[in-house]
Amino acid sequence: MEEPGDLFLEQVPPMEEIYQWMSQISKKYSGVVTQRFLGMTYQMRPMYYLKISPPSDNTKKIIWMDCGIHTREWISSAFCQWFVKDILQNYQNNSRIRRFLTYLDFNVLPVLNIDGYIYTWTTDRLWRKSRSSHNDGACFGTDLNRNFNSAWCSIGASKDCRDETFCGAGPVSEPETKAVSSLIERKEEDILCFLTIHSYGQLILTPYGYTKNISSNHKELIQVGQKAANAPRAKHGTNYRAGASADILYALSGSSRDWAKDTGIPFSYTFELRDNGTHQFVLPEAQIQDTCEETMEAVLSILDDVYDKYWHLNSAGKVTSTAVVLSLLVPFRPLF
Ligand code: ARG
Ligand code: ZN
Repeated sequence: MEEPGDLFLEQVPPMEEIYQWMSQISKKYSGVVTQRFLGMTYQMRPMYYLKISPPSDNTKKIIWMDCGIHTREWISSAFCQWFVKDILQNYQNNSRIRRFLTYLDFNVLPVLNIDGYIYTWTTDRLWRKSRSSHNDGACFGTDLNRNFNSAWCSIGASKDCRDETFCGAGPVSEPETKAVSSLIERKEEDILCFLTIHSYGQLILTPYGYTKNISSNHKELIQVGQKAANAPRAKHGTNYRAGASADILYALSGSSRDWAKDTGIPFSYTFELRDNGTHQFVLPEAQIQDTCEETMEAVLSILDDVYDKYWHLNSAGKVTSTAVVLSLLVPFRPLF
């Protein structure tokens, strides 16, 4: 029997149901997940993210994930919901997930661009941007993934508000990007990993998009990304590639991924989920489940690596806090 807070995702839900679902699961799993207010959209709708954080005395780091910045990419928002559901249903019995949650909180924003998402339901299924008005109502919408303060509007973005990649009136000019930026800035020191979910293309993209220069920990990001890209293949035979955005997709400025990396978050990735071009943004509903399952595997692979880096022996053989404690409890545990 269907209970409040259950989620089947045979179909992508409309915004109204996503709001209801968020408030239902925060009741059903109270103490584990809370709904946090993030800001208001251009059309004055409240934005909430879900903070998954079972009670614990540990100081925790944060994993950020947002979905639905480009609203026609419906499978993206479906995945954020799937992720939350999967974590909540499994964290008590699944030791892999329970282990993450001892040291990590998940902050998940299921629909970043709520105004645009609603517009894809009411008016134009292929709408990508926000719904802010420009040039006295001559045109609508900013590409929120061109509006972050990262080489703003220098490449792969347009200053013409009629365009799909309109970068906005200025860096972080939109309420939605402002809300996300200020939360991330506030928590930057604690965020280890920033994941932003899109479709389509079956790609795991690392910084940068705004330059061909490599990022400070490029090799590590590629290694972790490539391992994650193997996970969907193992799960459902779905081919993924990993690489820097400017190398394997296209050059773009003002993206949240590049901005997050440059504010100091060590692991920052864009996911492009299914498919590879057949259905593009209108992925058949029959593929929702498999897409979410394989994406879950890829995300967990990244989380494994992040976890191991900070709470296990690191590659230089230095010992982090947990390993020290373990070494006291387990005699003869090799330290490097
Ligand atoms: N989600 C992508 C974006 O942010 C677009 C994906 C189009 N896919 C592609 N392989 N060209 O612009
Ligand atoms: Zn996108």
